[in-house]
Amino acid sequence: MIALITGATGDIGEEFVKGVIGEVDKIWAVGRSEEKLESLKNKFGDKIVPVRTDLSDREDILRLCSRIEEEKPQIRYLINNAGTGKMAPVSEFSYSEIEGLLEINMTAATLLCREAIPYMEKGGYILNICSASAFQPNPYIALYSASKSYLMSFTRSLNVENSDINCIAVCPGWVDTKMLSKMHDGKKVEYPGIVTAKKVVDDAIRDVKKGKDVSVCSPYYRFMRFYSKVMPHSIVMKQWLKGIRDYI
Ligand SMILES: NC(=O)c1ccc[n+]([C@@H]2O[C@H](COP(=O)([O-])OP(=O)(O)OC[C@H]3O[C@@H](n4cnc5c(N)ncnc54)[C@H](OP(=O)(O)O)[C@@H]3O)[C@@H](O)[C@H]2O)c1
Repeated sequence: MIALITGATGDIGEEFVKGVIGEVDKIWAVGRSEEKLESLKNKFGDKIVPVRTDLSDREDILRLCSRIEEEKPQIRYLINNAGTGKMAPVSEFSYSEIEGLLEINMTAATLLCREAIPYMEKGGYILNICSASAFQPNPYIALYSASKSYLMSFTRSLNVENSDINCIAVCPGWVDTKMLSKMHDGKKVEYPGIVTAKKVVDDAIRDVKKGKDVSVCSPYYRFMRFYSKVMPHSIVMKQWLKGIRDYI
């Protein structure tokens, strides 16, 4: 029985490794860097199977899908955690940056779900790591936010289509990981409602086991989800812009 975790070398990814390692025989740890994967193996032992894959590269994604088909592992957890984004207007992204972002945040997660479902045990779990930015359009992280909205919507539908599997969209707000820039022009960047990676993961595992299809790990972002449902998005976007004006 295995867990397949993408972005296992990142901060939230490593917490997921810790969170599920006791429930499985092996963890297929997916990441780009051989060095980081090896150090994950040194830290967690022989249960870690390093799977070097660049999820911005379609051939690499398909190679991983073929490996699942060939080895036919019994999958208890699929955790699509790898993700990428940057704060900039869309006009400043190169075509290849746009393709790479959409490939990692949407296509890789989608193809891995499609590939893994036939090999998942009854009662298995799919956790797709989305973001609170999925709740509304967010100018200056437009691609990131739109890709996470896609993943959230996809995951909730998948959960209904597959009654034997529990699928959850994990939607944290700011999480204290190396993905966030800590300083801007010599000033500390403020992240409202920021939480630890451990809190995100503990809540996500608890929520998927309860049968929820969305996990939002702090009261602040649970309120923001409600707020962005009831308020016109033109207003919500203005407030977002006010919050980030010092950083763009
Ligand atoms: N931090 C936040 O505030 C926050 C908030 C909401 C949602 N999230 C989501 O949480 C997830 C994990 O992020 P994190 O904060 O833990 O960031 P992180 O520490 O930077 O981890 C990102 C992980 O994704 C992997 N990754 C990036 N590009 C990849 C590629 N092309 N192919 C394969 N793997 C790739 C990274 O591998 P390398 O080590 O090789 O780069 C790393 O393992 C992401 O989906 C992110 O969108 C984060």
